[in-house]
Amino acid sequence: MVKKFFAITVGLLLPLFAVAGGGHSGVELHKANNDLRDQASLRRGAIAFSDYCMACHTLKYIRYNRIARDLSWTDEEVVAKMAKGLSKPVDPVMARGDLKAIHQVLGTTPPDLSLVARLKGSDYIYSFLLGYFEKDPKKGVWDNHYLPGTAMPNVLEDKYRFAKVDEREALARDLTNFLEYVGEPIKVKRWDLGWKVLLFLFIFFIITYLLKKEYWRDVK
Ligand code: HEC
Repeated sequence: MVKKFFAITVGLLLPLFAVAGGGHSGVELHKANNDLRDQASLRRGAIAFSDYCMACHTLKYIRYNRIARDLSWTDEEVVAKMAKGLSKPVDPVMARGDLKAIHQVLGTTPPDLSLVARLKGSDYIYSFLLGYFEKDPKKGVWDNHYLPGTAMPNVLEDKYRFAKVDEREALARDLTNFLEYVGEPIKVKRWDLGWKVLLFLFIFFIITYLLKKEYWRDVK
């Protein structure tokens, strides 16, 4: 019986280790330290995502009007800031680039990034964005510590060359924050609700326990 219980517990816990261990090429990840409650950071991240990433990457599972609502923008503001006025707030896919042309240049289609933060984790995205290094400075060829041989060019090259490390890290943190938000827009609400549910269950437990004592008092 004890053995069986032990085996089941270990069996249930194993996938946790598998998830925690996978996803990158063995190089230590940097902590993103992003904050989903930091609205200013999310707004900066959204605009930076539009400027630096949306030429290649789509966001299929979120719409502009949802972002507007969550980041306290109006529908007009979000479309002006993120789509330069070229999209509607309810466009089913957030996309700006010419993916066919990009495929021809890069030889591959950049993945949709709606769920990338859930797939790979925020620390990975942050590290990946800061993980480029110049492989061949003469030819301007970059590679990445976290995804060696990646087909994604170093789109933050100007920040690597001309900005201070702090500025580059802050930009990567805002972008990561935005992508984590996009991966699960209600995460903050879920956190806020979570402890209320636990508190309710706790109080409910005490009441039930007292009630049980009351009912059984005369039985013994
Ligand atoms: C010029 C096109 C292009 C731009 C611009 C671009 N990417 Fe990419 N990105 C790609 C391609 C192509 C891949 C697939 C890379 C691969 O599999 O080697 C990719 C992959 C990724 C991945 C997944 C990496 C992985 O481990 O699978 C993330 C995260 C990502 N990009 C984030 C960003 C962010 C954030 C920006 C904006 C700062 C950005 N990308 C801008 C082309 C682009």
